[in-house]
This record gives sequence, C-alpha cells and structure tokens, in this order.
Amino acid sequence: MSLLVGGASQVATPRGTQGCRGEDLGRLEVLPGAVVRCDDGVIAFVGSVAEHDRRFPPADEVFDAGGGCILPGFVDPHTHPVWAGSREDELTRRLRGESYMDIARSGGGINATVRATRAASFAALLDAALARLDTFLLYGTTTLEAKSGYGLDLATEIRMLEVVREARSRQEVDLVATCLAAHEVPPEHRGDTESYVRRLVDEIHPEIARRGLAEAVDVFCEEGVFDLAQTRRLLADAGRHGWRIHLHADELTPQGGAELAVELGALSADHLIHVTPAGIEALAGSDTVAVLLPGTSFFLRSRWAPAREMIRAGCAVALATDCNPGSSPTESMPAILALACLGLGLTVEEAVTAATLNAAAALGRAAEIGSLEPGKRADLVVLHAPTYHHLVYHYGVNLVRHVVKAGRVVVRDGRRARA
Ligand code: NIG
Ligand code: FE
Repeated sequence: MSLLVGGASQVATPRGTQGCRGEDLGRLEVLPGAVVRCDDGVIAFVGSVAEHDRRFPPADEVFDAGGGCILPGFVDPHTHPVWAGSREDELTRRLRGESYMDIARSGGGINATVRATRAASFAALLDAALARLDTFLLYGTTTLEAKSGYGLDLATEIRMLEVVREARSRQEVDLVATCLAAHEVPPEHRGDTESYVRRLVDEIHPEIARRGLAEAVDVFCEEGVFDLAQTRRLLADAGRHGWRIHLHADELTPQGGAELAVELGALSADHLIHVTPAGIEALAGSDTVAVLLPGTSFFLRSRWAPAREMIRAGCAVALATDCNPGSSPTESMPAILALACLGLGLTVEEAVTAATLNAAAALGRAAEIGSLEPGKRADLVVLHAPTYHHLVYHYGVNLVRHVVKAGRVVVRDGRRARA
C-alpha cells in the first residue's frame, strides 16, 4: 500500500538518527512544495514531485495537503495518561496561593489521584485513557511514552500498565510504557519511605518486569519523595529487569538528579527546572536527553528550566507535555511548543526538533521516528497553515489538520478518519 502526500506548501523536518545539539537543534530542513511518499507504512521518498514521478510508479492513494505545512508527527516522551478523577480544585487552591507541595502534604496531589485510580475499574481507566489518546492524536502526537504511577501498589500498577497494553491495540498512537511505581509514597507507607522502597525493589519492580509490562523505569527523585540514595537503589536493578531509565530530576528542588541519570546511562532526565551547572555539564557530556516540560512551569507558575544554558552547553534537549491531572493537564504538543518558545526561549526551529527527533531520542527511537526521511516510519502531520512558524505564532488553537500514522490517514480535516 503506497500513499503520496502532495500539495503541501512545505515539508519541514530535522534530520538524522540521534538527538541534535547546539546549532544543529535549530537546523530544520525546509523543502518548499515537496511531496512525501509512504510505502507500506515507511517513508520511501521526500522531495520534488518531478523527482518522485521519475523514480516511483504512481501511488495507490494520493492525499492533498491543501497548501499546508508537513511536519513529522510529534513524539511526546513524558506523559502520565492513565488516571481516574480530576483535580481542578487544586488549581483553585494554587491560584489562591497554596503551593503544589502544600497541597500534596494535605492529602491532595499525586495521592488524591491514587485514591481515585485504585477505586477505578480496568474498563473505566481504559475509557479515560482512550479519550485522552484521541486528543493526543488530534493534536498531532503519533508516539508517546505512558507512565504508570497512580497505583503505588502492585495490583493497580499492573492494571495501569495493562490499560496501556490494551490501548495499544485499540487506537493508532504508538505507546511506550514506563513503570513509575516510585512516583510517590503511598498512604500505607506514609512516614516510612524505606519500607515502600524495599517493597518496590523486592516485589513491585520484579513482578512488573516479569510480566513484560514496561520497557523502562522512572522515579520521582525529589525532596520529601525519594532522595538520591533511594533513587539509586530503585534504579540499581533496571538493567537486570531489561529496563531503560527515565528520571524525574531536579523538578522542584535541586537534588543531583541530572548527574545520577547520566551516571546510570539513563535515556532521559526530565523536568530539570532546578538543574545545577554541574548537572548541565554532566548532561552535555552524555547521551542522556534533557526532556523539558514547560507546561508544568506554566501550570504551577514556577520558574522555567534554564533551556538556553543547556543548549549552549551542548545538551540534547527534548520537549514533552507531562500530561497528568496535577501539574500539566494537557495533551497538546503545539501548546508545549508555544511555551517552549515564549517561556523557555527556544526558537521555533529548536522547538520543532525538540518535539520530534530529540523526543524520539529520549525514547531510544531516533533511528525509527522523529524526522521525515526515507526508512523512517511514515508518521506525519499536515498543518492548517503554510509554514511551521504558525504552530507557535497562531497559538492556543489546533492547527493540526491531518495526521498520517504509519502511512495511513488517521485524522482528516481535524476529525478521526475511521477505517
Ligand atoms: O511530572 N512530578 C511528579 N509527577 C508529575 C505530577 C503528577 C501529579 O501531580 O499528579 C509531574 O509533574
Ligand atoms: Fe511527570
């Protein structure tokens, strides 16, 4: 099955099979009037119509981009998309002056969602997750990482990850599962973090690994949650479990999380709002991707991660939504691109690379997705705008008009195209 996407104003894409750094982060290839040919779900050609017609037979299907800009599908490398309940009350409390941590300590925060999620059935969690995945796709995300972490007990962590596994076969967005059972200390271990760390190491992590429900592990390394020494112990068995590592690092306070992520060869260190100069240096000299989540800074009204310093130092910077019910309840990568430019100070070109190729690198998938180049999976979006700049310039609305996933049109004119 072949699909030719033509009639575009431009194709804009980063290039390569690994995370970009420094000046390369801002180097997008822009091909005016180019076409993209997809053969059996894989990109076969990107270039001029004339060259396409010389080299290829007519495609089975031709799709008209209607004068829009074609970009790679967004890759969202940090989300918490499975949960029950909602926490809009906490927004109200924060707007009146309480902090995220104050609210967490008074029974809200992650543990409020844990209560609702433990009480929810598999079917209810699946329905809620599928509704969110629908929104992700309509906003142009074609691959996302999905964390557990609102169970904090074996049964519910398994249920969440089984929801991710089931959701994989029910809709088109590719899902990469991460075990985040170390997201918070659950109420039954309150005041005795050590006992929960032991339970994670001895029981929860091994059982989730045995069931093959995740390909990576993550820990919320933070003051009052898991300290650096506990985080180190929680990640010590990752290799034995066959897991790659992501780390919630230096989000609310500087903890040395970035340095630990680098030391352990993590795929990514995420948040980094309070990363130190030493952390930046460590990241810059490593393959660990710095995943920035400006939606969280915006929504918690906290400071912005030092993105320019990181880029200047040579870190591979990526962007993600952090979609979760407490600190960043959005599925929209275009919103994150706008915040990345206007909050973190990225250029539009840097933001596009960070949300596609570098985000793929944060998931260890930069050889397969994240750019529009022959041999990569045919995941792309068509904007309702003539250039990629509009994604940030015309902020707050959804400019994603069509989405192609693995060579099939799955969103047409802003609506799901049902087969
Ligand atoms: O990435 N930092 C920890 N986890 C989430 C917040 C989750 C929540 O508040 O429910 C985050 O910001
Ligand atoms: Fe998070």
